[in-house]
Amino acid sequence: MTRLNVDGKVVVITGGSRGLGLHCAEALLKHGAKSIYITSRKQKAVDDAVIYLKDIVDKFKEKNQFYNKGNGIKIHGLAADISTAQGNIKFVELVSKYEDKVDILIPNAGASWGAPLTKHPEEAFDKVLDLNIKGVFLTIQKFYPLLLKAGSSDYSARILIMGSVAGISPNLGLMGGTYGYLSSKAGVAHLGKSLALELGPQNINVNILAPGFIPSKMSNGLLSKFGKEFADKNPKKRIGTNKDLESAVLFFSAKESDYINGAIIPIDGGQHLGDAPAFSSIL
Ligand SMILES: NC(=O)c1ccc[n+]([C@@H]2O[C@H](COP(=O)([O-])OP(=O)(O)OC[C@H]3O[C@@H](n4cnc5c(N)ncnc54)[C@H](OP(=O)(O)O)[C@@H]3O)[C@@H](O)[C@H]2O)c1
Repeated sequence: MTRLNVDGKVVVITGGSRGLGLHCAEALLKHGAKSIYITSRKQKAVDDAVIYLKDIVDKFKEKNQFYNKGNGIKIHGLAADISTAQGNIKFVELVSKYEDKVDILIPNAGASWGAPLTKHPEEAFDKVLDLNIKGVFLTIQKFYPLLLKAGSSDYSARILIMGSVAGISPNLGLMGGTYGYLSSKAGVAHLGKSLALELGPQNINVNILAPGFIPSKMSNGLLSKFGKEFADKNPKKRIGTNKDLESAVLFFSAKESDYINGAIIPIDGGQHLGDAPAFSSIL
């Protein structure tokens, strides 16, 4: 039996204080990662998330649930604005205090904005693109030297860009009005594919995760109004869960996925293909 493991890996996640970033941190920690580094703009949010993750480690140890004993795990966080070069440099400096390499980088911090076409503010469009594309680029640029040190022919370092199904399909009905968001997620997927070509030969794989709706602070507003509608239209008849994301993150971080590079991975029940038909055509 194959056990997907990330034993001893050093993991960096932007925007890991809550939501999808925190789910990624939790999954990698439970499956053997030795260090986790997270950010958010707010120190209190980072501190709370660090406490939450340390608590998981304690409980896992108590119940002997770690395959690798879970000794010496490091969890640190920092308040930094990841849409800027300065914020990313601060984050690299923190990680470099403790580590000389990074095995898994998840540029996850993201923002969205919805407003009708004629009223969509320029500043909102800028804010979304600054974080969702420029921020992802800067994170990868600044962490590249540490990723380079981690990658080998035995295990390629990983960059898992947090894209979205919104970057694959423009036909997401109720996501209308999120012009900057849709463009940013398509753009960042293209950026990821280009980097996969460049960094693959250097033993750094770049893949793009493309989740559908998963409950979080960002998606809860839409889900509380239209969650049932989304679930009804989804080919799997439900929205996503943290577990759906966590198993994908684990696989694409583990050695077993070493030959997968430059892929956009929908984690969306098939939502990117369109709406499920109301009735089966097989009568
Ligand atoms: N939830 C979904 O259904 C869904 C689906 C597809 C893709 N995604 C993507 O998944 C990623 C995470 O989204 P989420 O749903 O987990 O949203 P979320 O709950 O709003 O979490 C966003 C995270 O990013 C941080 N962040 C925001 N702006 C930042 C900045 N300038 N610098 C540093 N950190 C920043 C937030 O912390 P602070 O606010 O404290 O800075 C928070 O930790 C995003 O890229 C999003 O597009 C989400």
